[in-house]
Amino acid sequence: MSKKSLSKFSRRSFMKSGLVGAVSTILPGDYIEGNTEELYPVITPTGTDDTDWQKVRSQFILERGVTYMNNASLGMPPAVVINAVKKGYEAISSEPLHGKHDLQEQIAKKVMPGLANMFGTQTDEIVLTRNASEALHMQATGLILKPGDEVIITTQEHPAGLGPWMYRQERDGIKVKQIFIPSPLTSESDVVERFSKAITPKTKALSFCHVTRGGHLYPVKQLAAMARKRGLLTLVDGAQAVGQFPIDIHELGCDAYAVSLHKWILAPAGTGFLYIRRDARDRIKSVFAADTTLESPRIEPPGTKDFPIRAAILAALNFANKLGQENIEKRCRFLSDYLKDGLEKIQGVTLLSGASLSLSAPGSTIFEKDGLDAMEAVPLIENKIKTHIDEHQRDGHNAIRVSTHFYNNTGEIDSLLSALS
Ligand SMILES: Cc1ncc(COP(=O)(O)O)c(C=O)c1O
Repeated sequence: MSKKSLSKFSRRSFMKSGLVGAVSTILPGDYIEGNTEELYPVITPTGTDDTDWQKVRSQFILERGVTYMNNASLGMPPAVVINAVKKGYEAISSEPLHGKHDLQEQIAKKVMPGLANMFGTQTDEIVLTRNASEALHMQATGLILKPGDEVIITTQEHPAGLGPWMYRQERDGIKVKQIFIPSPLTSESDVVERFSKAITPKTKALSFCHVTRGGHLYPVKQLAAMARKRGLLTLVDGAQAVGQFPIDIHELGCDAYAVSLHKWILAPAGTGFLYIRRDARDRIKSVFAADTTLESPRIEPPGTKDFPIRAAILAALNFANKLGQENIEKRCRFLSDYLKDGLEKIQGVTLLSGASLSLSAPGSTIFEKDGLDAMEAVPLIENKIKTHIDEHQRDGHNAIRVSTHFYNNTGEIDSLLSALS
């Protein structure tokens, strides 16, 4: 990664704060145990530096001395979210009937419109799921296809994205065409061209990640526009995308979009949603009900729900809205740019994250280091400096993934860099 690829706002704020290379003293210890309300009211940060985000950091209950840089696996919810879950369970335990009713009302009247508003959809175009995997399964198995029809996917899918298509190949006789996409991505047009070239008269849909596990950012808007022109549907895996940067699903132009809310949005574990474009309802149908209509598509999984968990999504949305999606993106860029800058200086390190902002998401950074096995490095780093990172042994790499979120800081990154060197 060249210096040019570092975002300008990060560079400016580095200089302003003089934080380059400095060890930050910010710790999560400001948090008072037992106080699951905010210690400080959540204040919208005005900059990207650690000092601007120090009070935000104090909203998390992470054990002192531990560093969490594996947000791409599972987000670390702030205290307000934990408190909301606790209150929800108290509500259905102390007065089950009213408790359940109140939580259902909160989900219908606040969570669903809140999600629709945040992600640019109509409220009736989304249904809650337990995670992205469930949503990915619902969108792939709900797509109307006949034997011999083709769906194009990539070599960079998560097993949760690949699995449902393999299921359909096996059960329904469709053909799944997996195209190779290089890591790092070379350009947006290269990705679009690879899909475009693979389309045949039998192709009915394209399915791919918005952001891959390695943090590669796909040109969803261009892919959806190209597919639409050719009469094809686009079904997107947004598990790694939502919460890292502002997303308007209508503007992306895709037909289905599967989401994890327990990663970058920091909602409780076991939350996600599925979006299906209103005018794709005749081609992506419910996998749970037969008597559906365009007005009543009945996409949602039936049965009793985890109401306290779902109602607590509201606390995560309010938290993210208060911070601001643009501010979160800038802060995430600031931290990953700082990390990339430091990695570049370590001998034997090869950065594998895309070299421009349009090709790499703000939060996840992948790299290899000569002589370092990723599988062995992860527990080593955990033991040595109590820092959680992840391996990325895929797409031909023996890489390490560091996924930083706004609550991390430059001091933690410095410790990781020093352990790596
Ligand atoms: C790209 C991608 N898709 C799907 C998933 C599955 O998400 P979930 O655990 O919410 O089902 C993940 C999880 O890491 C992922 O990285």
